[in-house]
Amino acid sequence: MSTAAGSGRLSGTTLAARAAAVLRDNDTGALVTASPKLYPHMWSWDAAFIAIGLAYLDVRRALTELGTLLAAQWSDGMLPHIVFTDADGYFPGPDRWGTDTVTRRPASVRTSGICQPPVHAIALRRIVDVARANSAGEAALAESFTARAWQALYRWHRWIARHRIAEPQGLLTIVHGWESGMDNSPRWDAPYAGVRPGPDLPPYVRLDTLGVDDPAERPSDDEYHRYLWLIEQMRRVGYEPVEVLATSDFRVGDVFSTALFAVACDDLADLADDLSLPFRAEVAGLRMWAARSRRAVADAADPVSGLAFDLDLRSGERLRTRTVAAFAPLLCSALAEPLETRLLSDLTGPDWAGHPGLTAAVPPSVSPRENGFDPRRYWRGPQWPVVVWLFSFALRRGGHTALARHWRQEGLRLLSDGSFGEYYEPFTGEPLGSTQQSWTAAVALDWLCGW
Ligand code: SER
Repeated sequence: MSTAAGSGRLSGTTLAARAAAVLRDNDTGALVTASPKLYPHMWSWDAAFIAIGLAYLDVRRALTELGTLLAAQWSDGMLPHIVFTDADGYFPGPDRWGTDTVTRRPASVRTSGICQPPVHAIALRRIVDVARANSAGEAALAESFTARAWQALYRWHRWIARHRIAEPQGLLTIVHGWESGMDNSPRWDAPYAGVRPGPDLPPYVRLDTLGVDDPAERPSDDEYHRYLWLIEQMRRVGYEPVEVLATSDFRVGDVFSTALFAVACDDLADLADDLSLPFRAEVAGLRMWAARSRRAVADAADPVSGLAFDLDLRSGERLRTRTVAAFAPLLCSALAEPLETRLLSDLTGPDWAGHPGLTAAVPPSVSPRENGFDPRRYWRGPQWPVVVWLFSFALRRGGHTALARHWRQEGLRLLSDGSFGEYYEPFTGEPLGSTQQSWTAAVALDWLCGW
């Protein structure tokens, strides 16, 4: 383990111990909540990253985390974006989602009715690697879990391929900004302008703004109103995937989720090949979805800059806002040279990670030079350790080792105050949103113990 911290900050060893304590403190036994106060439930993509972090503490516990999420899988294959605990204090809770009457949901758990980026197979492959590096016993545990869970993960991917790949572009469709994981990113401003909450939207009271120091760190009331309206629209059609696509006021091809789907499909196929699992036809399907998704990301890329842009499927408009998601081609190696190099030099240059004012030289969620950049508000400017981890991980796998290590080091510098913020103010390094955020602790553990 190396020392991560700059002067006056925690050493790598202390930081790892604190990260482990965050995961233990947020552990209910069956799941690690996303954070203690603001998010006292399991979130789908958080759970994948959390499981990677848990693998450094206890591989069996890491596998339980994925198992808990998979136990909430709907019968059609969808993995819901929230698995609710009994905790109060989060809105919208299960009653507002109204999924209790949906028979595709497993009766034993209460869940939301939408999904999140499909990073779970990426996590499982990482956990198998960690387990193999640990011991033969842990490797056996991870491999037998993989053999048991593989088909459930395949059904999740098949659900996406069936219901959420929009042809002819081939991008993964999202029907709510929450499905992207980047809730209020300026990526979604134009599509949200077309969401018109009806007068029959049932009243509600936000609770999220009570969980942060300053409500200005969260999405606006106007945005929340639209978020709740989309849930209302989907609830009225029983979250039935075909009906949802036909009726939702929000339908967007998401380049970032598409890139993650490409990687996850290949990872799931690799796991089957590696363990000689008897799923040849399914593996062929996964390879096809991976290739299709990679091509879709490449097709969404600007031919000069290489930046990939989302597509509003309702208006047909390309969404040309420059957020970190536009670098999606780097996640799945979608571009050939010289475009990949151009994209990398943009992301490391002064508009992004190389901006001279940054505390840590890692990409913010929006370029500080973009109109509307807001350094404190959620996905509108702050740096998100988990996003930095994703890029560092992808670059490392893609052979860009030096840059990957640099971002690991800078990412750890951002974290080395030990508070495990949800996101960080890029110029001051102040942790914002929730603290003791589980996925932040998890990526710290991977950077510290797995590189
Ligand atoms: N991230 C969302 C929230 O802020 C929900 O997925 O509650």
